[in-house]
Order: sequence, then structure tokens, then C-alpha cells
Amino acid sequence: MISDPPRADARADMAEGYPNGWFVVAFSGDVRPGRVSTHRLAGEDIVLYRTESGQLRAVGPHCPHLGAHLGHGGRVQGEDLVCPFHAFAFGPDGRCVRNAYGTAPPRANLARVPVTEADGMIFAWRHAGGDAPTWDVPVFDPTGAASRSQWAKTMGGHPLDICENSIDLGHFVPVHGGQNVTMLSPPVADGPHLHARIAFAGFYFLSGLHAEFDLHMYGVGYLAAEVTFPRLRLTVRELVCWTPVDPGRQRLHKTTYARFHGAKRVPPRLNRLVSAVAAPLAGLGSVLQIRDDQPIWANRRYVAHPRLAQGDGPVMQYRRWAEQFFPPVRPWASTPVTDFAASQAAPARQAAATSEAATTSEAAAVAERVAS
Ligand code: FES
Ligand SMILES: [Fe+2]
Repeated sequence: MISDPPRADARADMAEGYPNGWFVVAFSGDVRPGRVSTHRLAGEDIVLYRTESGQLRAVGPHCPHLGAHLGHGGRVQGEDLVCPFHAFAFGPDGRCVRNAYGTAPPRANLARVPVTEADGMIFAWRHAGGDAPTWDVPVFDPTGAASRSQWAKTMGGHPLDICENSIDLGHFVPVHGGQNVTMLSPPVADGPHLHARIAFAGFYFLSGLHAEFDLHMYGVGYLAAEVTFPRLRLTVRELVCWTPVDPGRQRLHKTTYARFHGAKRVPPRLNRLVSAVAAPLAGLGSVLQIRDDQPIWANRRYVAHPRLAQGDGPVMQYRRWAEQFFPPVRPWASTPVTDFAASQAAPARQAAATSEAATTSEAAAVAERVAS
């Protein structure tokens, strides 16, 4: 057998492929009980529905009977999803439970996709090899009681852009007008989690205002930035989620919380009121930042071997960590382990995620491989 020659560029898969991980496909409020909707994830449609009792499900788009698209006319009936073509019904576990002819339903299943909800966002798991989830989506506000503001937009870009942007120290001055940009703690990786801290001053109309950013990435689709403004006694938490939808197209979902710490004698109710007002204002502030980044993301090209200079942020450390989420294009194209990756990468995978033990079409493929 003649093999293709090894690729000179082992990281080309990061330029072209879709990453694995949890990705936001909708806000929780977009999928109410009894509703069915279609979303894009990694070049494919994914159908979300919520049963009448409120269970959220995500499935591959096509009916196993004769292939109708469930997002185009599919409807929820009680706990079941009913196909628009011949009205076969599928239960919450994905199994076909009845057909409209009154005969025995076929042994058929919907291709279920692992799905979970956190902080008013719906995350779907995507893995090119069909592996089950290997980490949990963190939850900031488990009760849903905190005031928050949400915003979403589809734009041009690369799957690595949003997290890389947060540690790309060099762009904060020319793109965002920042000052005194500082790396407080360099990136530390722990499996799918990467943590770093930076600081800078200058926020558009709040020029000169100093802020510290505590950055937590979980995969390349989720960035939680806790931003502290000591002078304002304000902490803002931005959950910035970046979903690859199609080649060169990403959808950004953003959820913003704010907490005003107030003065000692200020009644807690007033603090809560200020926090509620601050959340949408802080959310707007980061929309302004994204507005400035957007044309760069839409038109830049992924440079696998960037020519960096002193003053750049830890871009390559971030990319080495991010390699774990991208399947290699060829088996031999796996990226060489670097000192950073060797010292930082967690050896073992974490336990399976909270989401139900659902199967995807990809997971089904893995199960088939295991069974054979
Ligand atoms: S294609 Fe779905 S029931 Fe026939
Ligand atoms: Fe930026």
C-alpha cells in the first residue's frame, strides 16, 4: 500500500477542521416547551425540541424512516417528537414508539446529540470521532436568579478566534484603545480547561479605567471572563461562547452577569438594583469590543506558524493547548508534543459530562466499531 507523504504542516487541521467540544447552539429561552427548531453546528443541522414537560432534546435532523427533516414541520406531541412526513413518533429516548398506520413501529432511533443547559444557554456536544462528552459545562448561576443580559450574532471568523483574542495582548492597544496591558498570570492548562489572568485600562467612554480579567476557557467554544473594576466596586462575568456553524462562519452567544459590591451601609436591595442595571451596560461594552474585532476576524487568515515578537501574548501556548480539540487530518499529522503541552496537559480524561447518556450519529458509529 502506498501512503500519502506526511504533511509538512502538522497543524493544518486547525486551519481547516471543526473542533470537538461543547458549543452553544441557542439560548434556553429560544426553545420553549412544545417547540422544535433547527440550528447549525459544524456544518450540519441539529434539531432542538423541548417536550411538553420541559425536557430538552437535541437530535440529528433526518428521520430514520424515509429521511424527512424533523426541523421542517416536525412537532412535539406530549413527550414525543412527530415526523412531518408519515407521522412516526419518537420518544424522549429517541426510539420510534408508534406510526400512523396502527402497525408495529420499526426498530429505529433518532440520532441523539448530547445536550445540556447552563446559565440560560443550550450547549450541544460535537465530536468528530463520536466520543461521548469528556468534561462538564461549568454553571455560574445554578438558580437562574441573577440578572443577566444575552446577545447573539453570526459572523465571519475561525473557531480559535474568540479565546485567542482574550490572550492576544498585542491587539488591545490598536484595536480597543487599551493602555497598560499586562499578563498577570500566564496560561495554565488542565485538560480541556485553560486559565490565565490579564489586566488593562481603557474602555471606550471609560478611558483610563483599570480592570483585571480572570479568564477560564473550557474547550475553544467557551470563555468565561470575570472582569473586576476595583474603582467601580463592580465585577462583571462575561460568558462568551463561539460556535463553528459553517466554514469560516461562527455564531457568538454571549451572557453577561454583573455584581455591584456597593458600600457597607448601602442596603442589599440597592446593590441588587445596580447589578441589574449594570449587566446590560457591561454586555453592551463587550459588544462594542466585538464590533471592533469583527472585521479583523472576518478577513484574517489562520497562520499556523506566526512570526511573533516580544510583546505578543501567549498565542502559541494557547494554540498548543487547543490542538487537543482538533482531530488530525492524517494519523501521522499529530502535532509534536512541546514542552508546554507536556508539562501542562492533563493526562486523563475527566468523567463523562452531566448530560444524559445520549448517542449521536457519531457515537452510534463508535458503538458499532466497539461492537464489531
Ligand atoms: S420520513 Fe419520518 S415518518 Fe416517514
Ligand atoms: Fe479583541
